[in-house]
Amino acid sequence: MMKQRLHPFLNILPKGKTALRPRIYPRLHGSPCTRLLFTAPNTHRSRQFHKSLGPGLLVAVGLSASFIFSSVVHAEAPPKHDDVPQTRLIRLSEVEKHGGDAETQWITKGTRVYDITEWIPGHPGGEVILRAAGGAVDSYWDIFTIHKKQEVYDILDSYYIGDVDPSDLIDGEVPVDHIDNPFKNDPIRDERLIVHSQYPCNAETPTTELVKFITPNETFYVRNHMWVPETSLKGHTITIELPNGDEKMYTMEELTEKFQKVSITAALQCSGNRRKDMSEWSRQTNGLPWSIGGISNAVWSGVRLRDVLEDAGFPVNDLQDAVKHAQFMGAEAYGASIPIDKAVDKRGDVLLAYEMNGQPLPHDHGFPVRVLVPGNVAARSVKWVNRVVVSEEESPSQWQQRDYKCFGPNVNGNVDWSTAPAIQEMPVQSAITSLRDISCNATQDSGLPQINDLKGDVVAVEGYAYSGGGRAIVRVDLSADGGRTWHQAQLLKDLPEGEGGHKAWAWTRWRSVIPRHKAGKCFVVKAVDEAYNTQAGEYEPYYNFRGNLTSSWHKVEYRPGESEIT
Ligand code: MTE
Repeated sequence: MMKQRLHPFLNILPKGKTALRPRIYPRLHGSPCTRLLFTAPNTHRSRQFHKSLGPGLLVAVGLSASFIFSSVVHAEAPPKHDDVPQTRLIRLSEVEKHGGDAETQWITKGTRVYDITEWIPGHPGGEVILRAAGGAVDSYWDIFTIHKKQEVYDILDSYYIGDVDPSDLIDGEVPVDHIDNPFKNDPIRDERLIVHSQYPCNAETPTTELVKFITPNETFYVRNHMWVPETSLKGHTITIELPNGDEKMYTMEELTEKFQKVSITAALQCSGNRRKDMSEWSRQTNGLPWSIGGISNAVWSGVRLRDVLEDAGFPVNDLQDAVKHAQFMGAEAYGASIPIDKAVDKRGDVLLAYEMNGQPLPHDHGFPVRVLVPGNVAARSVKWVNRVVVSEEESPSQWQQRDYKCFGPNVNGNVDWSTAPAIQEMPVQSAITSLRDISCNATQDSGLPQINDLKGDVVAVEGYAYSGGGRAIVRVDLSADGGRTWHQAQLLKDLPEGEGGHKAWAWTRWRSVIPRHKAGKCFVVKAVDEAYNTQAGEYEPYYNFRGNLTSSWHKVEYRPGESEIT
């Protein structure tokens, strides 16, 4: 079969060519991942993949194309040097040959050249880095400022191979054109959010907000891999694609008018929640240092995905064995999938949600519509969703095929991602969100009902507990002495019986009041869910290099008089 090589990010057909199908082929270390190397189409899936990439990637393509092709190409002939230089001098035309679809990928940063081929499999941002391959990475790093730290510079340095030939420099610099700012539609955010990176926005809910049962929209944690895409209520549509290739498109008006509106109360938790703890108690992990605020809880309203799939002609009550996944595409190019059983489960409560806490979805959280997969890792709740594909296969996106997976404590970044399953349901989790000293002489209302008949000073402790798959929290154990002895915390009944959805999708708040004289140096919490799953005491045996699914005991140092948790 004749192969056609296109620029890796140009998912645009050359004039007169038919649709092309991406071929998945093994990369370094045998890791299969979708590379945008195309072969001629021969199945329905080719059409599906093309559509699934959606306009978001085209936006990215536009940006990256303008960027990638902005490196100036100079004369082909290498310069003649009388002496053999100590440093290898590399022409920009040579760098350009090492783009995303080449055997090896090079980038320039400043006037230095790096062969990043071996970095790509472990790159936390995934293959988005390929967009810069063959050109300069500087403008990307100006946008993805997350890279601007010593540890990343150190990693890059280990891939240094030479300097840009001075004859290619203008005023001593590699010429790079201006690129459009993809983050121009990002909203202004609440200053209380704890920001890990501004562009893309990754910001966690502060502890003062984590004590509330319903997290207000403004302080709900934000996890964006890219920019907030430009979307509108009138212009937005969702296309459902069935296994036989049939498609049905819905406007937002059709979605809201045709289907029953359903509300559920559900927590969303990022798989990186508490990664900071894993890095601190075990070893450095690869990813943003989320503390305990990579989780929030809200009331979500929308329509059941099941109802929309059925309306589009998918037999939700008679699943064929071959159909296994529901893939979701976001307007900015993000994608993920869930097992089809969850997607159509009457009691699974998967929504196409358009309201959050009674308000239209905020832009950061997916306006005008997102998928809401309660009980599963939040990475599957695709924001700004514009396409749903019922398929034999999981989403080809890097966020499904890589990234949101866990490996053993012995494994470093060089992994065959295909050997681990994508994270779906989350393990049991809990955290202490507030520690307060309360004097028995205090007159102010502490908000804690049990302390009316206090015999002495106490420490009031509050927190959340949550488990995946809709498994209810049945117990929360609290220790005031680092885990030697335990007390049972009081579980709050924030949701009336039978409300909030078919299963326990929301988090459970808990409280406890410990006599001050029993308080040691360290408070510890662990929760138990209805399957009697509980949290481990140690961190090292659960270490994984991406720091996903950190759920070992949450420990908080207690210093009398200084009860703030950071
Ligand atoms: N959907 C899109 N389109 N783009 C994204 O970057 N991030 C995912 C998920 N859905 C993401 C997305 C991840 S990793 C998480 S944790 C949740 O959205 C975060 O949702 P939130 O920002 O509303 O809290």
